[in-house]
Amino acid sequence: MILVTGGAGFIGANFVIDWLGAQDEPVVNLDKLTYAGNLETLASLQDDPRHIFVKGDIADGAQVSELLNRYRPRAVVNFAAESHVDRSISSPEDFIQTNIVGTFRLLEAVREYFGGLDAANKAAFRFLHVSTDEVYGSLRATEPAFTEGNAYQPNSPYSASKAASDHLVRAYHHTYGLPVLTTNCSNNYGPRHFPEKLIPLMIVNALAGKPLPVYGDGMQVRDWLYVGDHCSAIRRVLEAGRPGEVYNIGGWNEKPNIEIVNSVCSLLDELQPRPDGKPYREQISYVKDRPGHDRRYAIDASKIQRELGWVPAETFETGIRKTVQWYLANPGWVAHVQSGAYRSWIDSHYAVADAA
Ligand code: NAD
Ligand code: DAU
Repeated sequence: MILVTGGAGFIGANFVIDWLGAQDEPVVNLDKLTYAGNLETLASLQDDPRHIFVKGDIADGAQVSELLNRYRPRAVVNFAAESHVDRSISSPEDFIQTNIVGTFRLLEAVREYFGGLDAANKAAFRFLHVSTDEVYGSLRATEPAFTEGNAYQPNSPYSASKAASDHLVRAYHHTYGLPVLTTNCSNNYGPRHFPEKLIPLMIVNALAGKPLPVYGDGMQVRDWLYVGDHCSAIRRVLEAGRPGEVYNIGGWNEKPNIEIVNSVCSLLDELQPRPDGKPYREQISYVKDRPGHDRRYAIDASKIQRELGWVPAETFETGIRKTVQWYLANPGWVAHVQSGAYRSWIDSHYAVADAA
C-alpha cells in the first residue's frame, strides 16, 4: 500500500480517487482536516476498504511512525501543506509549522522506518514530495520557462516555506540516502477545488451573482494544468522517476488571469446563462493587488516528457469545460463548502480511524 498525506485536499483527493479508480493497491490517507480538508470530497470511497482515512498531523512524528509501522507502505506521497498564498501573507505561522516543521517531522519518521526495511523493500521504497513552481520566483515576460536547474527565489511566505521543505527533502537524500522524488508543478485547476483559489472562486461567485475580484491589472500569468494531469504525472514519477531527481510538471499553458476569468464567464454564459440574460463578465471587479504578487510563472516540462514520457491529456479548453461542468453538477458540494457544513460532514458520514 501507499501512504498519502493531505489526501482530503484538492489535489490529494483527486489523486486518491484516480489511484483507486485505476488499481486496487490500498491507500492510507493521513490528513489533519484543516479548513482545506474536505472528506465529503471522498464520499465515493467511504465504504471502500482500500481507502483508510486517518485524521492526523504530519508534524506528529509519533503518529506518523505508528502508521508507517502498522501499514508498512512501499511509498509515501506528501501533499499535506498550507497552500493558499493570500493566507500565507495574512498569517504565515501555519505555513512554517506544516510546510517546514511538518515536512521535517515526516521525513524523520520516514527515515527511521526506511532504516528498518530489508534490502528489497529499501530498493523499492520512495518518498515523493509534491511541490510548486512558486519556489523559482517570478519570471519577466521574455524569460524562458522554469527548468529544474533554476535557482530558488521564493517571494511569498507560502513559496518560501515550500522551498524550505524542498531543501529538506533534497538533504535527506544526499545525507541519509532516502530515495526521494520531488515534483514542482504549476497552477492546478479542476473538480473539488476549494473556492478560495482563482478559478473555483470565479465560478461560485459568478453563479451567486457576486463580484469577480481580479487583483491589480489582471495581467499576471500562470501556467494552468488540469488536476487529473498532475495526478497522472505524480503516478508516473512514483513509478519510474529516479531517486534524488526533481521533475517540473506543467501544462504548456500560460495565460493571464483576466483571460482565465473571461473563459470561465463565457462558459457559464453558454452552460448556465444569467437569469437577466446579461454576460457574467459584467461582474468582473478589479481590486487591490496582492502584496508582492509574482508576475509570471511558466514551467518547462520537457524533462518529465523526455525521461518518463509524460504529457498532459487535457488542453485548457477541454479541462476548463470539465471543471465548470463539475461545479454546475455539484451544487451540494459547493453549498456545504460555503456554509461550512463540510466540516461536520465527517462526523455523520465517515468512520475515521484514529492512529493513537
Ligand atoms: P489544499 O490546501 O487543497 O489541501 C491541503 C490538504 O493538506 C488539506 O486536506 C489539509 O487538511 C491537509 N493538511 C494541512 N496541514 C496538514 C498537516 N499538518 N498534516 C496533515 N494534513 C495537513 O492543497 P492542494 O491545492 O491540494 O495542494 C496539495 C499540494 O500540492 C501542496 O503541497 C501544494 O503546495 C502543492 N501544489 C499545489 C498546486 C495548486 O495549484 N493547488 C500546484 C503545485 C503544487
Ligand atoms: O503555481 C502553483 C501554485 O498555484 C500553488 O503552489 C498554490 O498552492 C496555489 O494556490 C496556486 O497559487 P496562486 O497564488 O497562483 O493561485 P491563486 O488561485 O490564489 O491565484 C491565481 C492568480 O489569480 C494569482 O495571480 C492571483 C490571482 N487572483 C486570485 C484570487 C484568489 C485574483 O486575481 N483574484 C482572486 O480572487
